[in-house]
Amino acid sequence: MDNRYKHLDKLSSEFERRFGSAPTLASRAPGRVNLIGEHTDYNDGWVLPVALPFEVNVAARPREDGCVRIVAADLGQEAEFGPEDTEPSEDLWLRYPQGVAVEMRRDGHPLVGLDAVYGGDVPRGAGLSSSAAVEVSWVQAFALASGLSLPGPEIALLSKRVENEFVGVPTGVMDQFISALGREGHALLLDCRTLEYRHIPINLPGVSIVVVDTGGRRELASSEYSRRRADCEAAVERLRTRLGDIRALRDVTPEQLEANADVLDEVQLKRARHVVSENARTLEAADALTAGDAPRIGELMNASHTSLRDLYEVSSPELDAVVEIAGGVEGVIGARMTGGGFGGSAVALVREEAVEPLRDALAEQYPPRAGRAATVYVCKAAQGAEAKRLS
Ligand code: GLA
Repeated sequence: MDNRYKHLDKLSSEFERRFGSAPTLASRAPGRVNLIGEHTDYNDGWVLPVALPFEVNVAARPREDGCVRIVAADLGQEAEFGPEDTEPSEDLWLRYPQGVAVEMRRDGHPLVGLDAVYGGDVPRGAGLSSSAAVEVSWVQAFALASGLSLPGPEIALLSKRVENEFVGVPTGVMDQFISALGREGHALLLDCRTLEYRHIPINLPGVSIVVVDTGGRRELASSEYSRRRADCEAAVERLRTRLGDIRALRDVTPEQLEANADVLDEVQLKRARHVVSENARTLEAADALTAGDAPRIGELMNASHTSLRDLYEVSSPELDAVVEIAGGVEGVIGARMTGGGFGGSAVALVREEAVEPLRDALAEQYPPRAGRAATVYVCKAAQGAEAKRLS
């Protein structure tokens, strides 16, 4: 079933109502879930995400005067900005399209203006990269309208810059990269240092990717995220006194870490142990996925969760509850928290016959532990971002 551009009809009607004629182009970009490789991207390591069948669409028509008029269909908001408006808007939602236009122009791309309506169904605040989907979808729309053909990695880096510098969140490159370059039926193994990537077929017949939104929102996420980054950088500084010219935890083997554990304080050692072991798990998981070795992938996912909970300390009681409940259901291959942590979602690989039992177990056991219900999404890996002309 082709479920791409699923919001386009609705957004086109809205466009006609607001701007008086039909849009001439559209873009789409998906959210993501990371199968494994958590808090490794900003340590120059590896990640293994998939694009989800939730997406942001932009319906647009170019304007010659460089101005951009935008309707945010899901937010009931409307705003406009011109090429000279390069300071981040007071309105957080507007910073995304505005940041995209500013950063693209900063890169020397000549941009036309747009009339546009956008919206989508990537759950917000659930750790499924709704921000990256918005950024990448806007890059796609501006690029097509302006006659530019940008390679996927460039789209990802541009979008990441919008997130870091315009929205002000110091994330790594994973979310934007998978949104820009995901492939249906595949996970994406990305080397976050070199940006080399490989699409890995999800060679697990009869297995679903199940995303469980805990409903817990990530209040701590941004301050703790920055602290984790700082812990990792401090660990690298200290390890450098022994290991010479290392740039990131990516350059440290488990053996080197243990042999030099005494230069790190207790917290730094825990953080580094997570990152170094998670990198190894991620590379092994990519091989296991290629080989169709479900039990091994499950073990690696479960080990990843334990490491994120105990060493990196970014899980939450709700995430732990989901993972524990899932672990008690026969046919669940593996489960872990996914994304930044402190709330948001967990991901599980689940045999089809175990999907309903998992739903039942969560419906019964999660609310008494969390005080709210979890939301379950059963997904297949979706296609990354694109744009098309409508007329
Ligand atoms: C967030 C960030 C990503 C990545 C994950 C943790 O999702 O946006 O860049 O760092 O956390 O793996």
